[in-house]
Formats: sequence, structure tokens, C-alpha cells
Amino acid sequence: MAVAVLCGMQWGDEGKGKLVDILAKNLQYVVRYQGGNNAGHTIVIEGKKFIFHLLPSGVFHTHARCLLAAGMLIDPKVLLREIYELESAGISSSNIYISDRAHLIMPYHILLDSLKEESLGENKIGTTRRGIGPAYMDKYERSGIRVVDLKNQERLKELIFRNVESKNKIIQNVYGHHPLDAQAIYEEYAVYAKELNHRIVDTTQILHEAIEKGENILCEGAQATMLDIDHGSYPFVTSSSPGTAQAAAGAGIGLSHITQRVGVFKAYCTRVGAGPFPTELDNEIGEKIRTMGHEFGSTTGRPRRTGWLDLTALRYSARLNDFTELALMKLDVLSGFDVIKVATGYKLNNKILSHVPADSYIYEKVEPVYEEFEGWKDDISGIRSFGALPMTAQRYVQYLEGALGCPIRTISVGPDRQQTIRR
Ligand code: GDP
Ligand code: IMO
Ligand code: MG
Repeated sequence: MAVAVLCGMQWGDEGKGKLVDILAKNLQYVVRYQGGNNAGHTIVIEGKKFIFHLLPSGVFHTHARCLLAAGMLIDPKVLLREIYELESAGISSSNIYISDRAHLIMPYHILLDSLKEESLGENKIGTTRRGIGPAYMDKYERSGIRVVDLKNQERLKELIFRNVESKNKIIQNVYGHHPLDAQAIYEEYAVYAKELNHRIVDTTQILHEAIEKGENILCEGAQATMLDIDHGSYPFVTSSSPGTAQAAAGAGIGLSHITQRVGVFKAYCTRVGAGPFPTELDNEIGEKIRTMGHEFGSTTGRPRRTGWLDLTALRYSARLNDFTELALMKLDVLSGFDVIKVATGYKLNNKILSHVPADSYIYEKVEPVYEEFEGWKDDISGIRSFGALPMTAQRYVQYLEGALGCPIRTISVGPDRQQTIRR
């Protein structure tokens, strides 16, 4: 395998966590390379559900080292809670390491994320309010506090005091909120520094050595292509690039080592938060998909918006990420529909659009052009081979494979590890 990257093709929550857990079985490293605890990746093992926001979804394979790489944002409070929960479930956390180059999410990032969202009123993005945008802003403005700073108490204190002073000006003067207490934040983070100290390493160097030894690495994307800061439906996006190219940048790996690129999509679409969603079904069918698919946010619990599959968005994603194989998730959720629709293109003012428009306000207005497929009645969640799927389900998969020009090597028919078909 050498280095593989797995990333979402739609608006997130495609089932990336489940797939990473399956693929991590034979690996030496699982690496998160961007985003923070805005992610919510679910793994179900023998009916028991685990949701990870920061930890790579390979943590159950304790032979694999799980790295939180340089491109990530780390909220140390959330990380420590996840590690504690893992250990409480009897699973070792000794294989979890954090990049010294990753940036920290601070309490003012979380507060500013919420204050900004509130101030936007109807125009809000619908962020997870985990401080992602404000923390990446500081990183690119070069005022961020990094994990390496946890190793130097004096420096940590100085950076916290400097940042809190400047953020308090915005918190008080722009938003009229009471100021934050720098000393209290320093004391809180000094405790995190002690608790995390033994996990802070140079993950970039570790990965370089692993590549030299020919070890197998899987990079786990969070969020998804349609939420990409550059290529997604801006401004209704996240503040990082979830795509395959960012795996190289965020983990610090040479591009040529990444030989396997797995695109993950579900058999329909969902979106959490605001922004264009051409195939959205604000009706009974959408409600049925939400109920059958348990489409409620893993991070915020918000009901996910639901809709039919959107081939224009998927083709765009496939091109942006240059996938070598695809994984089709949640096919079981479509069981019982008489008709399954797939949007093959968009229409705008009676003209066909074959691409995703850059202008989100135009994107809001496009109408999907649908092709219809005959559905299947049977429950497919117990099926483990492609040939055993109903013919109509097989045709749906083969159609998608042709339309996307990339082999669908994995089909998922339920949340559990076992409910998976490999082709
Ligand atoms: P991620 O963010 O991409 O890791 O996805 P989430 O974990 O946020 O959301 C996917 C949800 O679908 C989780 O509740 C999974 O347990 C569940 N899931 C994953 N694959 C399947 C599947 O094939 N069928 C069904 N019914 N549920 C699935
Ligand atoms: P996983 O990894 C779905 C969405 C938010 C919001 C926008 C910006 O589980 O697929 P942010 O907090 O990142 O500034 O919010 O992005 N969003 C996600 N939607 N799955 C996710 O992660 C998401 N992470 C962020 O709902 O619309
Ligand atoms: Mg999720």
C-alpha cells in the first residue's frame, strides 16, 4: 500500500471513519492531516458505537501508530477526553502521538466562532462552533499557538497573554462580550501541556522514516471535498482543504509516495450547516432518508439535510482528488425505495450546466436534472458479496462506476465493520 489517502467526496459524513477502521487492520500508521474536532467519525464494532473527533479512526488497531499531523488543529481538552474515553473502554492509547507543528485551538477561538456566527444571523455558515475558522485564521496570520509551545511554559504564557489581550479587544469592542481571563487560560493549558507532553513528537520525521522503511500509512481526511476552502461552495465551507493533495502537505509527505487515493461517498447526499445543496429533498423522501440513514450530526447532533446523489459534485470531486478507487457507503439505506434518483447535471435558466459554479449564490439557484433507477425491496444489510446484491442494486453501482470513471472497490451495507463488500 505504501501511502494511501482516504477522503470524503461530498459534504462530509460519508462513512470515512468506518472505512478507515477497516483499512487500518494491516497498517503501521493512520494519520489525520487537516481539520480538528469539527469532524465526527463513527465506528461500530459488534453493535458498540464510538465517535472520534480528533483521534484517527485507526485507534482500535493498537499495532498501528495513530498520528495527529502538522496540518491539524488540536483542542487539547477534547483530545484528552477522547483518550480517556478510549482507555475507559479498555483500549490502549499508547500508540497516539501529536505533531509538535500542529496548531492549538484556544478558548478565544471557540468563543469567536460562536460570536461571529451569532452576528451573521440568517447569513450564518452553520459551523460546528469548535473554533476552526478563528484558529486557522491565527495560523495563517502567524499568531497561532502551536503544540510545540506547550513544551515551554514561559513561552506558552507569553503567547497566551499576548493573544488574549488582542482577542479581548475584538470580544469586547466588536461583540460586546465580557473579556477572557489570560491567567485562567494559561493555568488550564499548563495542565494539558503536562498531560500531553509524552505524546508530542515530530510526526513529519516519523513518517519520513516510515516511508524509508516501506511501512504502510493511511492518511484520513476529515470533512470533504465540497467543504474545501478553495474548491467548495465558499463561503459555506470549512477552513481547510480535506482533499488528497492536502494529505501530502498536512502530513509532510512527498506527493509521489501517495499511490492509493480512495474517494468515499454515500449512495445519496447529506449536508450539515448552510450552503447550496441542489438535490436537497425538503419533503417526505428526504425525511425517509434521514430516518433510515440516522442522518443526525456526529459532532453537533443537528439533523442533516438530505437529498439524492449528485453526479456533478461527485465528478468534480473525483477530478480534484484523482482517486484510484471509490467506496460507496450506506447503500442499504436506499432499500425499499421504488425509484432512486440520481442528478446527472444542473439546469440554470433552462440551460444545462455540467460543472459546479464558483458563485455559491448561483449554485443555490441551479436545479438538478434527474435520471431514475428502479429500486430494490430486499434488506441488503446481510449481503457480503456483490453478486448477491439485487440486480437493480448491482446496476445502480455499475452505473455510478461508469459515470465517475473510477472503480468502486468497497460497498458498505451497514454501520458495522462486518457489513462491507470488497470487490
Ligand atoms: P464520517 O464523518 O465520514 O466518518 O461519517 P459519520 O460517522 O459522521 O457518519 C456516518 C454514519 O453512518 C455513522 O453513523 C456510521 O455509523 C453510519 N454508517 C457508515 N456506513 C454505513 C452503512 O453502510 N450503512 C449504514 N446504514 N450506516 C452506515
Ligand atoms: P466529518 O469529518 C459534515 C461543516 C459545518 C459547516 C461548515 C463549517 O465528520 O465529515 P466548521 O466548524 O468546520 O467551521 O464548519 O463545515 N462541517 C462538517 N459537515 N461533516 C464534517 O466532518 C464537518 N466538519 C465541518 O457543518 O457547514
Ligand atoms: Mg462525520
